[in-house]
Amino acid sequence: MDTVRIGDFGRHVDEEVVVRGWLHNKRSSGKLRFLIVRDGSGYAQAVVFKKAVSPEEWEAVDGAGQESALQLKGLVKKDDRAPGGYEVDVRSIEVLQSVHDFPITPKEHGTAFLMENRHLWLRSTRQHAIARVRHTVIKATRDFLDDQGYILADTPIFTPAACEGTTTLFAVPYFDEGTAYLTQSGQLYNEATVAAHGKVYCFGPTFRAEKSKTRRHLTEFWMVEPEIAFAGLDDAVDLAEGLVCAVVEQCLERRAEELKVLGRDTTTLENVTRPFPRLHYDDAIKLIQEKGSETQWGSDFGGTDETVIAEAHEKPVVVHRFPAETKAFYMASDPERPELSLSADILAPEGYGEIVGGGERLADHDLLLEKIQEHDLPQEAFQWYLDLRKYGAVQHAGFGMGIERVVTWICGIDHLRETIAFPRMLYRIYP
Ligand code: 4AD
Ligand code: MG
Repeated sequence: MDTVRIGDFGRHVDEEVVVRGWLHNKRSSGKLRFLIVRDGSGYAQAVVFKKAVSPEEWEAVDGAGQESALQLKGLVKKDDRAPGGYEVDVRSIEVLQSVHDFPITPKEHGTAFLMENRHLWLRSTRQHAIARVRHTVIKATRDFLDDQGYILADTPIFTPAACEGTTTLFAVPYFDEGTAYLTQSGQLYNEATVAAHGKVYCFGPTFRAEKSKTRRHLTEFWMVEPEIAFAGLDDAVDLAEGLVCAVVEQCLERRAEELKVLGRDTTTLENVTRPFPRLHYDDAIKLIQEKGSETQWGSDFGGTDETVIAEAHEKPVVVHRFPAETKAFYMASDPERPELSLSADILAPEGYGEIVGGGERLADHDLLLEKIQEHDLPQEAFQWYLDLRKYGAVQHAGFGMGIERVVTWICGIDHLRETIAFPRMLYRIYP
């Protein structure tokens, strides 16, 4: 008899099946034991009747605590009152490993304790739900780009120089070559691959030595970065807008159950349709200053500023044309106002902050060289990047979308740390 996953029970009603999983919870009533079993795909209530199993099996069930590993055989019945919607009438059961002291119980635990036991915490209902939303965010992202002809081009993790500012670099000793740095973004490399394919994206871990201890920063996070040839700022924003909408739509469609577990109010997510409001940086500054912000023209927004801007809109909002000095060296400048960069950020609603950052790239060789020197970057390390401006340079643009930021927003949770299995932060590298 084949093992059936609980998530597929709908196709096995009134059939006898084998289930393998873990004991999530247990309730006793006289000669009955109600086991909530989880197998990763869902939860089901397994009902063990004393007379239906052997005395040894009955004893083993009685001795098994939370997270005991189990294999059982039984009849699947539809039962709307049972957790998960199905009940299994158990015919035989084997306790593969009996557990008595699982550290994470249904009672409340502090965050520090849970983070220390992250390897076990991952099994809890809430963490399980978040991980499945993350899976769908990633799949929807890849499907969206693949369907539009984008080619996945993986970019290196060891790099010779900074991409997003020298203050957040992680240095690694690299044989006789001296120091390598963990990548902050695959963008620069995709400006090379885009000249081979026209439309590309990279999707991998990126690293920032963020000394800030905020709810929105990880030192290792996953980013998808599309790059488009023969495209400008507006094309990049259009693509990002379409991507964000597709991701939200897929989560609403496929992860309704998980969003319910998380207590997510989905009405604001249902609002996420094109077009998003677009706000010039000048107007964004006016808006936040009217609401009492001290932030002056020329500075980047603080976390509170982003929340104020987002709260003034029902949907994600695009802020464009940030002052060049707030952005990275590779940004093209606005031909009408050279002090502005052709950049854009997308801010999520409800105060979840920046989920997308991108723009048009500087395509001119000499201007780019000037910028590299202005930013005190090592010119030798960027020779290849400058080369791209000599051989068939065209207008090109792209953006990066942070997966953990998006998952945090869609799940409606407080902190980025729960959106990745093993978060890396300023004060956390274990487990
Ligand atoms: O705005 P950022 O720094 O842009 C870039 O890296 C560009 N090179 C992307 C591109 O144009 N190809 O980062 C992009 C996104 C942010 O909007 C945010 O969602 C996420 O990456 N992000 C972080 N997420 C978690 N922790 C951090 N420390 C993050 N820093 C950026
Ligand atoms: Mg940014």
